[in-house]
Amino acid sequence: MIKSTAIQEDESVNTQASHISVAPMMDWTDRHCRYFHRLLSPNIRLYTEMVTTGAIIHGDADRYLRFNPEEHYVALQLGGSEPQDMAECARIGEQYGYDEININCGCPSERVQKGAFGACLMSEPDTVARNVEAMVKAVKIPVTVKCRIGIDDVEEGPFLRRFVKTVSEAGCNMFIIHARKAWLKGLSPKENREIPPIDYTLPAAIKRENPHLEIAVNGQVKTVEDTTTHMQNFDGVMIGREAYQNPGLLLELERDIYGNTPISAEDAVLRMIPYIEQQARDHGTPMKSITRHMLGLFQGERGARLWRRTLSTQPHLEDAHSTLLAEALKAVA
Ligand SMILES: Cc1cc2nc3c(=O)[nH]c(=O)nc-3n(C[C@H](O)[C@H](O)[C@H](O)COP(=O)(O)O)c2cc1C
Repeated sequence: MIKSTAIQEDESVNTQASHISVAPMMDWTDRHCRYFHRLLSPNIRLYTEMVTTGAIIHGDADRYLRFNPEEHYVALQLGGSEPQDMAECARIGEQYGYDEININCGCPSERVQKGAFGACLMSEPDTVARNVEAMVKAVKIPVTVKCRIGIDDVEEGPFLRRFVKTVSEAGCNMFIIHARKAWLKGLSPKENREIPPIDYTLPAAIKRENPHLEIAVNGQVKTVEDTTTHMQNFDGVMIGREAYQNPGLLLELERDIYGNTPISAEDAVLRMIPYIEQQARDHGTPMKSITRHMLGLFQGERGARLWRRTLSTQPHLEDAHSTLLAEALKAVA
């Protein structure tokens, strides 16, 4: 596992020490998406969609937790606020082989607020601390927190400092900070990713004041340049929408930041064919559930529209066969 780091004194980028990850995204970063992202970038960290403690304890846990061994490094994001349940789910996650357990303290949706977790937990740092305490006792893997810089009309500086202090003292050594507030009333989750202004200076100050903590930044990162800039101030950079909508970015990161020759997009597509066949055979997974994550692959290239159109229609047909991917590739060749 990549080790935590303090800010580089000479402001250069230490790619051995900083980590880049794809954000947890409900309905998007399922295990098929993560398998695809891993093909594109062997080095990036991956996160599951948020899984609630209720789904694991009372639902079909295997459906939510199963993942492909190729996905490592892969973190399980939990939604919940009951220490016993969170500890139990962390333990189950560790048994499944996850590399990290992450607590969602950043989601503003009403459904999540009704469950009393997500971003509203930021106003209850003691509750989060009790959860962290119970979880670090239950598992050996890192327990981390993803949060915002604040909620509603709080003054975010003192609010975030108090939150990080209380939760880190309970045993959380890594925070991923989405660098904008969450407004819990009046904005939809989508608006909450766009309207509250982005502010990287506060998370950067938190890192400077807490060199012993691992601080990753999230929010509005779109390019290799954005990523390298943030790597000078943070231990990690988490990328959400851009990684999903333009997965070619993962190839660029692999080449320009990790210094590797990435797989070609075409080869990645061909490597998905046996995966699609295996998932259909072993789990009855329809092809469209996998190919929907691949629509953005050739963004900006010739034939990208035809690729997108082919993949948004043909896998839905009853007799769809995985070889249609090889056919669709001809459009972008
Ligand atoms: C479709 C979608 C689903 C999301 N689901 C989650 C989630 O389950 N847990 C979470 O912590 N954040 C979730 N987020 C927020 C992202 O993890 C990330 O914090 C946010 O998109 C900002 O990063 P970005 O500007 O790079 O997209 C979701 C975002 C999107 C677009």
